[in-house]
Amino acid sequence: MTCQYSISIPNQLKSRPRKTRQEMAPHSLSSFAFFTLCTFLIVLHFETFCWTPGHSASVDDNPDPAARGMCAAAVAVHGYECQEFDVLTDDGYILSVQRIPHGRVGGGSGGPNRPPVLLQHGVLVDGMTWLVNPPEQSLAMILADNGFDVWISNIRGTRFSRRHVTLDPSTPEFWDWTWDDLVFHDLPAILEFMFKKTGQKIHYVGHSMGTLIALASFSEGKQIDKVRSAALLSPIAYLSHMTTELGVLVARAFVGEITTMFGLAEFNPKGEPVSNFLKALCTDPEVDCYNLLDALTGKNCCLNNSTVELFLRNEPQSTATKNLVHLAQTVRDGILSRYDYGNADFNEKHYGKPKPPAYDLSKIPSDLPIYLSYGGEDALSDVKDVDILLDSLKLHDEDKIHVQYIKDYAHADFIMGETAKDIVYNKIIAFFRNQQ
Ligand SMILES: *[C@@H]1O[C@H](CO)[C@@H](O)[C@H](O)[C@H]1NC(C)=O
Ligand SMILES: *[C@@H]1O[C@H](CO)[C@@H](O)[C@H](O)[C@H]1NC(C)=O
Repeated sequence: MTCQYSISIPNQLKSRPRKTRQEMAPHSLSSFAFFTLCTFLIVLHFETFCWTPGHSASVDDNPDPAARGMCAAAVAVHGYECQEFDVLTDDGYILSVQRIPHGRVGGGSGGPNRPPVLLQHGVLVDGMTWLVNPPEQSLAMILADNGFDVWISNIRGTRFSRRHVTLDPSTPEFWDWTWDDLVFHDLPAILEFMFKKTGQKIHYVGHSMGTLIALASFSEGKQIDKVRSAALLSPIAYLSHMTTELGVLVARAFVGEITTMFGLAEFNPKGEPVSNFLKALCTDPEVDCYNLLDALTGKNCCLNNSTVELFLRNEPQSTATKNLVHLAQTVRDGILSRYDYGNADFNEKHYGKPKPPAYDLSKIPSDLPIYLSYGGEDALSDVKDVDILLDSLKLHDEDKIHVQYIKDYAHADFIMGETAKDIVYNKIIAFFRNQQ
């Protein structure tokens, strides 16, 4: 990074602290990497404000391209059949799921029993991230054209999954969850739904936090009976080496402030508090907005400008602040465990123990077929952290785990890279076919 950052918190943010519920209050969030996560989305905002000057900075006068629904906006337009489903979790959230049952008319191969695949996105984005490239480069459509029955999930809180049988997204209760709840509620609901509809075991593809929830679930012995294999892209489990230069600077600017600034409920990257903050930052002549994406996620080698622009018109998405706090705990503690309520009494109440229970990844069944692909330039899924993950899988059956290292790839290349079909997706397809 060549530029100097001088960051100050705009006054309108300082004067707007929200009430937080004591039980959710995290202990000291001094880990700057927490802010790296938060600023992952902030960076995306920088790009809308600064990088594409012709592009409107305001969400309001920039109509949501997916207002008609994801199928209509991003799949049917390319000539693919696409079905929309609602999936109810056992804790009352209503999740939007899309299905591309087969390839383009006249294209594709395979019989009626197409193997189902679930695509699970990461944090602060939704299922649209799989659909921003042209069909020839998009994993969802490439899989459909290669004979798979493709399902796309959207976790709670993202724009099409802001629904609950009793709770309203404008209330803090709707946002009282972390990725533990994705492990124990969202993932089981979606896999169960797919399993019922298709009668087949499912191939899983996760990116970023989509890998974390799968690994945690498998380590608990959950969903193994419904999953045929798993492809993990930019895997995130251990996060303690996620250290970017910009992360340090951002952390210095607002360590410990995030929950008072944005509250503990919804973390809405398109909301006014975050927007104002970003606008203020981007007017700073010292900030080179163009380089921020790379500074945060790593130097993505292979993104096309039109793809990035479409991505930015669709993302980022809201998540629960509590979820980001949980991810920050993962960074800080260097181990993978359930959400830490910050004191022994609260933990005792939730878990019957003074400390949150750990997820033991070495318990993942050693015969589960796993394809793991990671990049040398990825600032969020750092090579050193992937090494720790691989170490925890060292007793995995050798012929059941396939590891791919891509020197030039950073975090976003795995889902949006122009070269991803040749480098990654074709290999995943071959891997899936070997697991039939
Ligand atoms: C980027 O993507 C657009 C839209 O798919 C395409 O027309 C253009 O040729 C691509 N640019 C490059 C440099 O490949
Ligand atoms: C992509 O966008 C950047 C920033 O606007 C610009 O500098 C670059 O020339 C563009 N590249 C292409 C291939 O259009």
